[in-house]
Amino acid sequence: MIHIALIGTNSICRLHAEGLLLFPGRCRITALVDIRPENAENFKKKYHLDCPVFSSHEELLSSGPAVDSVHICTPPFTHAPIAVDCMNAGKHVLVEKPMAASLSECDTMLEASRKNGVLLSVIAQNRFYSEINWVKSLIESGLLGKICCSHVRSYWWRGHEYYDTWWRGLWEKEGGGPTLNHAVHQIDLLNWIRGQMPSEVFSMLSNVLHDNSEVEDISLSLLKYRDKTLGDITGSVIHHGEGQALIFQCEYGKISFPWDIQANTAKPDGFPMENTILKQKINDRKRFIKPLIYEGHTGQIDNFLMAAERGTDPLITGIDGRNTLELITAIYKSGCLGQPVKLPIQPEDDFYTSHGMIQKMKAQTQNNF
Ligand SMILES: NC(=O)c1ccc[n+]([C@@H]2O[C@H](COP(=O)([O-])OP(=O)(O)OC[C@H]3O[C@@H](n4cnc5c(N)ncnc54)[C@H](O)[C@@H]3O)[C@@H](O)[C@H]2O)c1
Repeated sequence: MIHIALIGTNSICRLHAEGLLLFPGRCRITALVDIRPENAENFKKKYHLDCPVFSSHEELLSSGPAVDSVHICTPPFTHAPIAVDCMNAGKHVLVEKPMAASLSECDTMLEASRKNGVLLSVIAQNRFYSEINWVKSLIESGLLGKICCSHVRSYWWRGHEYYDTWWRGLWEKEGGGPTLNHAVHQIDLLNWIRGQMPSEVFSMLSNVLHDNSEVEDISLSLLKYRDKTLGDITGSVIHHGEGQALIFQCEYGKISFPWDIQANTAKPDGFPMENTILKQKINDRKRFIKPLIYEGHTGQIDNFLMAAERGTDPLITGIDGRNTLELITAIYKSGCLGQPVKLPIQPEDDFYTSHGMIQKMKAQTQNNF
């Protein structure tokens, strides 16, 4: 039985509780922590939990019941300090996205996980949808050939009021705009499916519609990989109708999430004609890929419990969370400096630390990017 404390008991934490409560034979919610204890008390009532409430993670660690794992569902700027304290106290950590506010914080978290021999996983619940698993499996099958170009559309829409929440829209607290907090999901999927990081990124950022926020509300980025292939990412909260997509143009066909496949072959003059044989093969193979039993947060919670039970790595590791943040950091650096940026971001880079990045980004914000 795995004993779990939930830290930060408001919006997203509900999905953690609902996921955990589906596995009563494997885990129990043993403590709730929130700097606003009334949030935790309401949460406790809503889910009929029988557990103590603490007003800080320090209080939990010093005087709370024994817990094996913590789920951190607090604002991004708090993730690293809470996670490191909990890992130093021997707890496994499942932290909400984004992993942390900077690469230096990610590295401190990775070191705490290694040093204490505890698990560290970062929420990337979109990996736990059957459709995206079809896309990954089919690309890995080789039927479509190599990825030549990828397109990531992270289109969301948020009104002014969204940025009235105390920690949103601030470089110090939210750490960034939709590139960090929304496209983080699609960027994780991109890195997972591509299996490699880009070597170079060129981005533009702007804040077009949210004058109560200092972060970007749209970013457009071009990516180049070491194997000469290209990609692009749009991260936005100004797109009406919303809609998120990953499109992979491969050597022999196109495959997308949401699900779509297209395949062309050449007529004698080189112009395209539909490759119905390949489309049929892809659809036939897709039928044999089993749908997932648990999807979204519940899927990741099941996977994290399994890792703790069996002593294996979770599907989404701290390294994955760091890679996602590294690509996002490169986007911010490029948009801020107005020039292409090479990866990896080195520890001596201004953008490696929260302090360096915030200083640079705030200066740029004053010039409206
Ligand atoms: N995976 C997803 O799809 C998804 C969706 C929304 C939010 N999130 C992430 O979840 C996290 C929380 O977002 P939210 O929308 O639930 O925020 P929220 O403001 O609704 O809830 C955060 C809770 O944390 C508490 N809190 C703040 N600082 C704390 C601290 N130091 N110690 C203990 N409690 C503290 C707050 O009082 C609040 O109850 C963020 O990192 C956000 O990016 C993820």
